[in-house]
Amino acid sequence: MNEGYRKYRAFAPIHLPDRTWPEKTLRKAPTWCSVDLRDGNQALVTPMNPAQKVEFFRMLTAVGFKEIEVGFPASSETEYALLRTLIEGELIPEDVTIQVLVQAREHLIRRTFQAIRGAKNVIVHFYNSTSTLQRKVVFETDMQGVIDIAVEGARLIRSLTEELLRDQPETRIRYEYSPESFSGTEVENSVLICDQVLEALGASPENKAIINLPNTVELCTPNTYADQVEYVCRNLRHRDSAVISIHPHNDRGTAIAATELGLMAGAQRVEGTLFGNGERTGNVDIMVLAMNLYSQGVDSRLDFSHMNHIKKVYEECTQMAVGPRHPYAGELVFTAFSGSHQDAINKGIRYREEHNLPTWEVPYLPIDPADLGRQYEPIVRINSQSGKGGAAFVMSQFFGYQLPRAMHPEFGALVKAACERAGRELSPQEVFAIFQREYLEILHPYHLLTYRIFEENAGQGQVMVDFEGVIRTHRVNKEVMGRGNGPIDAFFNALRALGLTEYEFVSYSEHAVATGADSKAVSYIQLRRGDETFFGVGMDSNIGIASIKGILCAINRDTVR
Ligand code: KIV
Ligand code: ZN
Repeated sequence: MNEGYRKYRAFAPIHLPDRTWPEKTLRKAPTWCSVDLRDGNQALVTPMNPAQKVEFFRMLTAVGFKEIEVGFPASSETEYALLRTLIEGELIPEDVTIQVLVQAREHLIRRTFQAIRGAKNVIVHFYNSTSTLQRKVVFETDMQGVIDIAVEGARLIRSLTEELLRDQPETRIRYEYSPESFSGTEVENSVLICDQVLEALGASPENKAIINLPNTVELCTPNTYADQVEYVCRNLRHRDSAVISIHPHNDRGTAIAATELGLMAGAQRVEGTLFGNGERTGNVDIMVLAMNLYSQGVDSRLDFSHMNHIKKVYEECTQMAVGPRHPYAGELVFTAFSGSHQDAINKGIRYREEHNLPTWEVPYLPIDPADLGRQYEPIVRINSQSGKGGAAFVMSQFFGYQLPRAMHPEFGALVKAACERAGRELSPQEVFAIFQREYLEILHPYHLLTYRIFEENAGQGQVMVDFEGVIRTHRVNKEVMGRGNGPIDAFFNALRALGLTEYEFVSYSEHAVATGADSKAVSYIQLRRGDETFFGVGMDSNIGIASIKGILCAINRDTVR
């Protein structure tokens, strides 16, 4: 028995019996801030080189980020140089604000102000750790000691801003303060320090500062984080002078939920990364948050319609892989292997098309793959678990063959058996090859060599159809003829000459299909012999002949079984 759990203690819940967030619904996107180039980058085995950082930065602006934390310029020469490249190379769009991170320490703050010279829109983001644990084991100080560090930092930042604005009045500088390890700090202390920082920064309702509440290490369930956020929002004296931001990490694997509940609890801004890259288990994945809102009918103000391109840039720059089941972006997320799922997707897509529905309601597909620049093609993949609907869907979607519903089980079983024999998934082309082999190319034992169909006036306004033709069977050519009230009836009667009398006609459907430059008719014929029914398929430029070929195909398939 593993007794290891005994060394852990449960996270203490927040006392907030009148919490309001559970009743809230998210109807508006927050302000997004990408921290890919700082928090994400510092967690990479091989951090991005300057060219990769610039490429990543460009991709972030193309996605629509208006606030981007570009680094920690006082931490190293490389970080400093990158910021200078962005500013001096005029690579920052007018409507994008760069954010720079700095610890609340004098020499680092001064260096940061040198690094941002010439930038138009800047958020100076400073932090110090406030957590109960770090106060005890790292700083060996009390809460007042931690407050003093933050307040001194805030005063210095304010005075350096005044200095910089004297030289560069066109620059817009905003402030952000993070009580780092907020979720591991007593909430009353978080409120205390944030209020004092807001005062020291001179924040006002007209000139708000960002108060960022990091879940630096995700220590608690999302509801507790939401309680912490709501507590701060309700108790901050200078609430109207602050923009409340959250910065979740994913140690418990619940960063998305924590962020969504945090937004319901009153946060207005989110810091995170694409695909959730970041320290340890990562930062919250902004792409997933944005797409979650989008799929609820909310304008996320971020554009992921070229997901494959974004993923490619991300993977190349970070050397990290996006998993095949990653929400919205993974290779397999629009793929249904299960037969019943394929069937329902098939029906859902068809229903939507037939009813011209403006809304997206397709079973098992919460979002339209086209909205992410993905295609319908890979939605259904054919393996031995696939059902009748999947194979029919591939025939319709890839090749334009609308197999009648009654034929789905028969064709599905043929495809399934082929999958089992192959012991692997089949490609759409392989599915089509089965269709060709099993239906279009079955010409034995009865093969129609020549044919003529003509109509005759049978008097009293009645038109009869005559069929005349030669059918080759068992190496003998036989002339057959028959009359009926349509080509199918006439052909059935002609078949009597071959002794084929036990077949009954059950159903018929047809449509045109493009074959290169022109189009042909495809007929699906269902016959019965005894208790069994089976299908044949015929294809011809003449629709009557297509039906006749379909009948012979069904008889041939029944004969050779
Ligand atoms: O996770 C964290 O606490 C941080 C801060 C510096 C905001 O990255
Ligand atoms: Zn972080």
